[in-house]
Amino acid sequence: MLTKKQNERLTQVGPGTPMGELLRRYWHPIAAESELDESPIKPVRLLGEDLVIYRSKNGQYGLIERNCPHRRADFANGIIEEDGIRCSYHGWCFDHRGQCVEQPYEDRANPKGKFKEKIQAKAYKLEAKAGMLWAYMGPDPAPLVPNWEPFTWDNGFRQVVFADIPCNWFQCQENSCDPVHFEWMHRNWSSRQFGDGSYGPAHLELKFDEFEFGHIYRRVREDTDKDNQHWTIGATTLWPNAFFLGDHIEWRVPVDDENTLSVTWMFHRVPSDREPYVQKKVPYWKGPVKDEDGNWITSHVMNQDIVAWVGQGVIADRTKENLGKSDLGIAKIRACFEKNIQAVENGEDPMALIRDSDQNICVKLPIKHRELFTTSMSLEDSKALAKRLSYNLNQPDYQHQTGQPESVKMEYQKAMGMIPEDATETI
Ligand code: FES
Ligand SMILES: [Fe+2]
Repeated sequence: MLTKKQNERLTQVGPGTPMGELLRRYWHPIAAESELDESPIKPVRLLGEDLVIYRSKNGQYGLIERNCPHRRADFANGIIEEDGIRCSYHGWCFDHRGQCVEQPYEDRANPKGKFKEKIQAKAYKLEAKAGMLWAYMGPDPAPLVPNWEPFTWDNGFRQVVFADIPCNWFQCQENSCDPVHFEWMHRNWSSRQFGDGSYGPAHLELKFDEFEFGHIYRRVREDTDKDNQHWTIGATTLWPNAFFLGDHIEWRVPVDDENTLSVTWMFHRVPSDREPYVQKKVPYWKGPVKDEDGNWITSHVMNQDIVAWVGQGVIADRTKENLGKSDLGIAKIRACFEKNIQAVENGEDPMALIRDSDQNICVKLPIKHRELFTTSMSLEDSKALAKRLSYNLNQPDYQHQTGQPESVKMEYQKAMGMIPEDATETI
């Protein structure tokens, strides 16, 4: 149970808040790279600030405050220039650092004036990696955008999946260190809703460890023992706001105190007869969280998680909770956040920043059954191996979240050799 003050310290993310300042030390995926192919400007909200992301004509990415410093017009309606963005109201132009470089009328009326030099829009860094666009809103020098090991894998079909979640980010992230919910939410509740009502294997023992890039939880269930990779390798609560499961990473990106953007980067290894496979563009999509009748969707794993998170309230009231032994991981990450908030308050670097470019060639993470994602195998062999290891991999449908568009499904099934290249329908 926390005090109201402690709860606020963990959940508030706006500028100047302790957690907001900590989270500004990390890169956050905020959009898919291919989103800017359709329209080169997109409004976003991150850490309580309204911003736009854009791509200049020269290919440079920009992230600038949403409203023009002149008279507050919306840069979402801006004009893309060679290096920067121009406000469509009176034509002031800003480079990717946010410096005003042109004021058409002022420049004509007073050519010697230095007015534009004094105008600086708030601007941040934006970089592309792994088919996503990453924002950094902290002080210089910025760390590197982490090159997590799966980003370096070849022969994969990747997709980026979003969902808008109307609740605070921290309860979403606590779920990344909560092994027992798998048994109930994803197994037993699913079985009650859609199956035969049977119960899955119960958890018998848990262990939570800290490591360089977050926390690891280990589990023994009725159907596994301590030789199983659920125990020897475990699952990763990736610092500060992600969950890592080998073939995918889920980020809980703090939009503001009451909204979270769920971002999943998913990798499917293509079968050996499709190699070498080079994906030209990483597709993206956003799934719904409610059905047409306004009810929360509970059919897929990610949707079930979302139902749990929003069910805890817009901002979970931790003054009213009762933590047990299953929540040791939750207590650990809360303490770790407090430690790192204090590090930032003391002017120190928080944990898990990557500044060494050699290290960033490939940042290794603990990965259960790495062979499933990195070994060249036929589709049948990979499915059979996955089944033996109790994974539900390489199905025709996207298993994790509802709402995959038909066009992405088609691309996936072709990449996986499930349908021919010239097919016009999915299976
Ligand atoms: S409001 Fe942007 S140029 Fe005037
Ligand atoms: Fe879950």
